[in-house]
Amino acid sequence: MTSAPLAVDRALGGVSARELAATYGTPLFVIDLDQLDLEIDRFLRACAPRGIAVGYAGKAFLCAAFAEHLAGTPLRLDVCSLGELLTAERGGFPAGRMYFHGCGKTGEELRAIVDRRVAFDVVDNDEELERLAALAQPDQPVDVMLRLNTGIEAHTHAFVRTGGENTKFGIALDRLPEVLARLAQLPQLRLIGLHAHIGSQISEVAPFALNLDELLAAARLAAELGFAVEELICGGGIAVAEGPDDPHPLAVEVLAAELAERAAGHGLRLAIEPGRALVARAGSSLYRVMAVKTQGRRRFVVVDGGLADNPRPLLYGARHLPEVLAAAKLGPDEPATLAGRSCENDEMGDYVLPRDLAAGDLVALRTTGAYTYSMAGNYNRFGRPPVVFVRDGHHRRVVRGESADDVVRLDVV
Ligand code: LLP
Repeated sequence: MTSAPLAVDRALGGVSARELAATYGTPLFVIDLDQLDLEIDRFLRACAPRGIAVGYAGKAFLCAAFAEHLAGTPLRLDVCSLGELLTAERGGFPAGRMYFHGCGKTGEELRAIVDRRVAFDVVDNDEELERLAALAQPDQPVDVMLRLNTGIEAHTHAFVRTGGENTKFGIALDRLPEVLARLAQLPQLRLIGLHAHIGSQISEVAPFALNLDELLAAARLAAELGFAVEELICGGGIAVAEGPDDPHPLAVEVLAAELAERAAGHGLRLAIEPGRALVARAGSSLYRVMAVKTQGRRRFVVVDGGLADNPRPLLYGARHLPEVLAAAKLGPDEPATLAGRSCENDEMGDYVLPRDLAAGDLVALRTTGAYTYSMAGNYNRFGRPPVVFVRDGHHRRVVRGESADDVVRLDVV
């Protein structure tokens, strides 16, 4: 008996979704290396000729193999925890191209900075400055940047000048002279730059431009006080379209041209540190449909992942467009709510999905490369999914999935 032909059997990175699901199970987090390299290349081509360095914000997604892949590019890497640092080191990412972020660094993290496991620290507050100074030696000064709160806050489609009171991050601009005066007394720390990150998923160039103007003014002030600031990091935050209704994402070419023009003649190096825009499009979350049910007027498609492996829909109302990758039968599209399998209403959005979608079919949420796996947890004591790289029809597991045994491995009885 021959089975009916599949209505759909699509591939990720040239690998059939059925093969991925059969090999690794679902849910599965898939990174398409071709797509990733395309984005990296786009950023480098827009930025390098204009003298703008590009760092990748590791918080968007990081594992050792990913760090290894990045090590083979000219990108720098921003880490914000000992976990991210160790991950990068496991991947052989060079210390000289890494730097440390965070507004509450632990003693161990400051020690790692002083031990030169990264090139420099981005200092967020006075307490950190003092604690780092207490560990560093004047004969081997530690390079630092100051994270400034320029008072510009950007959201997807709007920005405001708040005077900085709405965010905890960085040093308020009006406190800069005071902090510089203190730095002048600390020969064990060497100021090499200023930094300001204004938000995420920003689709306009104006807030970046204003932020850079503030950084340039701050650098002038620092120069007047005797500090030779060499570099300004303008943060990350470049938007990615998550669905057809999203505003057009900001083109990196436009951003790079604007930044370079504004900084021309100031004799300062520029840098940016995107996370999302580099990795979001390369990632997909592959799920198996577990049940399809109609409750009142709503049709729910329940998949075998959800809140635990992708908290973004519930946390931010984020939408990641679903795509049916393998199904026995399709039928015309009809409204459906995609839901996870957590023990709460972990809806992942209202979409239109084929009428005949059924248990066993494979659905991928696209554009989940950023802040999805990196924000996954063990809610309901589910294990986190494996991570697989795909390219040219080949696949490679780069992070094991957590089994139930893995989930209990830290329990003490
Ligand atoms: N630099 C700093 C200092 C940051 O805090 C961030 C992100 C970035 C760079 C990179 O921003 P990106 O280019 O990825 O927008 N969990 C949220 C996003 C939080 C972003 C946190 N900081 C989400 O899932 O949308």
